[in-house]
Amino acid sequence: MSYYLDVIPPHGGQLVNRIATPEQKEVFLSKAEFLPRVQLDARAVSDLEMIAIGGFSPLTGFMNQEDYNRVVAEMRLANGTVWSIPITLSVTEEVAAPLSEGGLIRLDNPEGQFIGVLELIQKYTYDKKHEVINVYRTDDQNHPGVQVVYNQGSVNLAGDVWLLERAPHPQFPAYQIDPAESRKLFKLRGWKTIVGFQTRNPIHRAHEYIQKCAMETVDGLFLHPLVGATKDDDIPADVRMQCYEILLEKYYPQDRVILAINPSAMRYAGPREAIFHALIRKNYGCTHFIVGRDHAGVGNYYGTYDAQYIFDEFSQAEIGIVPMKFEHAFYCTRTKQMATTKTSPSKPEERIHLSGTKVREMLRRGELPPPEFSRPEVAAELARAMRIPVNV
Ligand code: ADX
Repeated sequence: MSYYLDVIPPHGGQLVNRIATPEQKEVFLSKAEFLPRVQLDARAVSDLEMIAIGGFSPLTGFMNQEDYNRVVAEMRLANGTVWSIPITLSVTEEVAAPLSEGGLIRLDNPEGQFIGVLELIQKYTYDKKHEVINVYRTDDQNHPGVQVVYNQGSVNLAGDVWLLERAPHPQFPAYQIDPAESRKLFKLRGWKTIVGFQTRNPIHRAHEYIQKCAMETVDGLFLHPLVGATKDDDIPADVRMQCYEILLEKYYPQDRVILAINPSAMRYAGPREAIFHALIRKNYGCTHFIVGRDHAGVGNYYGTYDAQYIFDEFSQAEIGIVPMKFEHAFYCTRTKQMATTKTSPSKPEERIHLSGTKVREMLRRGELPPPEFSRPEVAAELARAMRIPVNV
């Protein structure tokens, strides 16, 4: 008998579906004109979507105060289920004041289109400093995640939500595979063990190496780049997706990989976000999740392996999905292959690794990153997308 169940249960046991039925949608549309409105920013739109499609199971809405407090302090929902990132809808006092608890709120996207409904059960204020110190381990406003918290409103609106309809993604409709569908796909392919990969950067050889190391021991790879809001200097999602398409075609066995978009917004919360990212992939049906060096980190806020150590704070049973931890990978000039210090006897000067910032600097100077760091096809695509004349 397989060690893994047929399909791994979603976090909390039940895959949430908060997409309005045609009947509900009709009712909501008939009320739309009369409901109080709240305009969502890009992150809140992503969160609404993720709740609705079950990516954030067991959440059925934006967090109430009891869940929020325990998540911030202890990384658990009020009922004890592990959850590491607050999912809140924060608005200004002026927006919150006229909204009455118990009523329905119309949720609009940044373009003013009606996209969802919130059943407002609670409005509460919260302590921003307490939140950022706990969640981001810093209150430095240069941290992009901390900055968002300090810039958002001081009142959280809580309650269950409905997404009016699941529209195809405007940029990547072919890769919009929601949790209910990915679960079916895995079953259809006969995959029992599936490793999920989170990424917000253009694929480089260290990514490819850790993915392929993982692929040696599981049935399939669920390549799940994040396409929600990222910080301004990150490479845009369309360029990253293009790089993936190019690479998959030439360097991966097509029948062992599924490429799909993750609509979430990036928090840059390092360790806490690694837990969050793992739980999301569990909801998509993954049994394993890759956590490499400085996962979801930014700057020097987190230790290289903090995002791996945090998994030790929970039992395997309560997380459910298995973290596959990888050390810092590099190209080793001595053994002439990708490696980590676990597999290579190299000295530091025999290791080729470049940070994302370094790569962007090189591209700006008109240089392509070396083939030891990036597959040439990906490097060329990055240069093309950044409209950089490259000296070759
Ligand atoms: S992240 O913010 O989404 O984590 P990124 O796209 O760079 O950023 O990383 C995706 C995954 O690959 C993360 O698990 C990260 O830890 C891992 N990773 C990135 N670069 C390396 C590397 N050189 N060695 C080992 N793991 C890496």
